[in-house]
Amino acid sequence: MNVYDGERMAEMLGERGMTAAADGNDADLVILNTCHIREKAVDKVYSDIGRMTREDGSRPMIAVAGCVAQAEGSEISRRARTVDIVVGPQAYHRLPDLIAKAGRGEAAVDTDMPAESKFGALPARTKQARPTAFLTIMEGCDKFCTYCVVPYTRGAEISRSWGAILDEAKALVDGGVKEITLLGQNVNAWTGEDDKGRAQGMDGLVRELAKIDALKRIRYTTSHPNDMSDGLIAAHGEVDKLMPFLHLPVQSGNDRILKAMNRSHSVEGYLRLIDRVRAARPDIALSGDFIVGFPGETEEEFADTLRIVDAVGYAQCYSFKYSPRPGTPAADMDGQIPADVMDDRLVRLQAAINRHQVGFNAATVGRRTTILLERAGRYPGQLIGKTPWLQSVHVTAPDQAIGDMIEVDIISAGPNSLAGEIGRRKAA
Ligand code: 5AD
Ligand code: SF4
Repeated sequence: MNVYDGERMAEMLGERGMTAAADGNDADLVILNTCHIREKAVDKVYSDIGRMTREDGSRPMIAVAGCVAQAEGSEISRRARTVDIVVGPQAYHRLPDLIAKAGRGEAAVDTDMPAESKFGALPARTKQARPTAFLTIMEGCDKFCTYCVVPYTRGAEISRSWGAILDEAKALVDGGVKEITLLGQNVNAWTGEDDKGRAQGMDGLVRELAKIDALKRIRYTTSHPNDMSDGLIAAHGEVDKLMPFLHLPVQSGNDRILKAMNRSHSVEGYLRLIDRVRAARPDIALSGDFIVGFPGETEEEFADTLRIVDAVGYAQCYSFKYSPRPGTPAADMDGQIPADVMDDRLVRLQAAINRHQVGFNAATVGRRTTILLERAGRYPGQLIGKTPWLQSVHVTAPDQAIGDMIEVDIISAGPNSLAGEIGRRKAA
């Protein structure tokens, strides 16, 4: 979502005559769009701010945006005196005013969560450099997992309107986009009304987006298991443009830990849900998020997490060491886990995840599939595209262009990417 927010900020400032600096060192304004989800991300912001001052002592105007700005507010400019602007994720449509204020030497801090949506104040999407784009359809989260800052920094769940989302999707497609990834911290909780006033969920939205002819692929992330509706599961079996990939974090494979995390689903419930999704779309690739070392997690409870990785057989996963976040209930829980124990569990978890990822990729060798070419590769004539299952494929295709969709035969697989060839054998 920060990538999306960054693009929207750049487009808004572009409309006001600003252009991207070729090199960050030459910029008049630097916006650090920050993440507060784990402590490491926050530490990085302060070291980045320090690096902004040049050898001759000059520096650009510095804005801190995003969730660190939201969480720490004016404390940021006290801790780092060179920061001129602090702007939260719900207030960045006011950046032009804040820049003007900072230019006059006034304090420019805005961490409001205004009732009016920032989206209405942002310019329409412009021509995109890439054939894939993000589109935020809802923001915030009402789930309050006990480890997580998101409900505090991004605020309560708010769904954008049906019309606004479709307009933005059409503008993106008119600008050359072939694939849209719908975004939200809890994206499958999206609700709204269509143009006839009928209640709709995300499945309805996906079906409507699929009617846009030049839009070829639809993805969405991140979903909560409890908001995976029957309609959305069915859409996976019925809407061709909805890609067979589902990022569905479970966080832990142990019921006691899930309860302490306030996840409000069980291991069994999660596995049953996966079965239903697979029944609708047998080739769906699954992805997840995991946290190791949640307060009180025993070795046995951690072993349950290794078991769920094997039980599901994920195509890929993100895994993190638990990071206590100020103001969240888990930060005050007993049984905080020592760093070396967390390190050890993370290594073992990542080995298990990697084994499945390697196996998933290897299983595609010999198959013919369609890839959307997204960017140039390292060698002349080489392009990199994505399979429906979100794997990167390197292919030598000198006659093709970025944005093309081509059929390739997968000839080899590594842990993080595949190699493909055009027309090695006749289609079956
Ligand atoms: N510590 C570690 N990981 C976290 N996540 C969220 N909060 C924390 C935390 N305090 C992870 C979760 C979530 C992903 C976006 O970040 O796995 O799904
Ligand atoms: Fe955070 Fe996701 Fe839980 Fe919401 S559902 S509180 S965003 S981990």
